[in-house]
Amino acid sequence: MVSLGIFSLISTLFLVLAVPTTAASSKLSANYYDQVCPKALPAIKRAVEAAVSKERRMGASLLRLHFHDCFVNGCDASILLDSTSAFDSEKKAGPNNNSARGFEVIDRIKLEVDKVCGRPVVSCADILAVAARDSVVVLGGPTWAVQLGRRDSTTASKTTANKDIPKPFMNISDLIKSFKKHGLDERDLVALSGGHTIGFAQCFAFRDRIYNETNIDPKFAQKRRVACPRTGGNSNLAALDPTNANFDAKYFSKLLKKRGLLHSDQELFNGGSTDSLVKAYSSDVKAFWADFAKSMVKMGNIKPLTGKQGQVRLNCRKAN
Ligand code: HEM
Ligand SMILES: *[C@@H]1O[C@H](CO)[C@@H](O)[C@H](O)[C@H]1NC(C)=O
Ligand SMILES: *[C@@H]1O[C@H](CO)[C@@H](O)[C@H](O)[C@H]1NC(C)=O
Ligand SMILES: *[C@@H]1O[C@H](CO)[C@@H](O)[C@H](O)[C@H]1NC(C)=O
Repeated sequence: MVSLGIFSLISTLFLVLAVPTTAASSKLSANYYDQVCPKALPAIKRAVEAAVSKERRMGASLLRLHFHDCFVNGCDASILLDSTSAFDSEKKAGPNNNSARGFEVIDRIKLEVDKVCGRPVVSCADILAVAARDSVVVLGGPTWAVQLGRRDSTTASKTTANKDIPKPFMNISDLIKSFKKHGLDERDLVALSGGHTIGFAQCFAFRDRIYNETNIDPKFAQKRRVACPRTGGNSNLAALDPTNANFDAKYFSKLLKKRGLLHSDQELFNGGSTDSLVKAYSSDVKAFWADFAKSMVKMGNIKPLTGKQGQVRLNCRKAN
């Protein structure tokens, strides 16, 4: 008893002394801004709510921005940087050009957060992570504690954005590979693809699927062809899910009926190893939500800059 007590006292002391020196500088934490600016998170929430009440789709666009940030050299707000003489903006990469949106909303949030904090202490990378969570909540989805303390990059890579953001034309094995490259497994792939329960896609992203593929409900294909002709109309929009302003499980139940809009969506339910999970989520929104929240935290942990790495940008569009 006594020796056990001493032992645990010693190991507790050891932990207390040993852990923070590394953890404080390299790990994210949910209470990162509690002392330095307790008004930061409520300010982000207010701004996201205002933007989404103006346009429901903005919630989807903000969620996607965080994803496209994290998949390119980690969650470091590199996607927000405009081009300079030193690098091309990730905004110009194939998956983002004329597609990624919400940059003005992020600018507004940054302005308001810096105002309530009285100084620029909240990074653009953290704003993206919190705005993504708040968007999901406003659209009726789950909530989670966002891990914070990311810092902002001083550079961006259009080349890496073209390489590392998955394409809608990918098959299941390439999708799994793409996620694995970022430390995310098949469960993360399926849960996070559930992000397509909100928002829109442009005709060019699903044309081949609705005209050429066979694992698609013919009535659904027919309906989608109306606003997506064989030629032209590249930027015409279709909802990714029939209830695309609500964070529900319909995305998954539609996959069971071969009504996935993107090729990559239907790949998740096409006779492979991820079928069973799609089925499970389709009838259990709580299971989907729980896994989505968990996977968002995991995605938000991809290679963050912390401690003295990077910087807290004054303007999300350019390095200080
Ligand atoms: C699994 C691989 C993925 C692929 C291939 C993919 C591809 C796409 C494509 C092609 C679009 C339509 C873009 C356009 O037409 O302009 C889109 C939209 C969207 N994606 Fe994904 N995506 C993937 C994963 C994710 C993940 C992990 C999330 C978030 C957790 C996400 C969230 C969204 C949202 C919310 C939209 C709608 C955006 C809006 O309406 O502005 N996607 N995605
Ligand atoms: C991005 O889209 C614009 C407008 O459609 C186009 O002119 C430009 O060439 C595209 N940029 C790249 C890098 O593909
Ligand atoms: C998936 O696509 C890649 C690249 O297009 C191809 O090399 C691979 O053989 C495909 N895998 C399957 C299982 O179809
Ligand atoms: C359908 O597939 C054919 C043959 O691969 C291709 O030439 C055509 O461009 C595709 N059509 C669409 C609308 O993508």
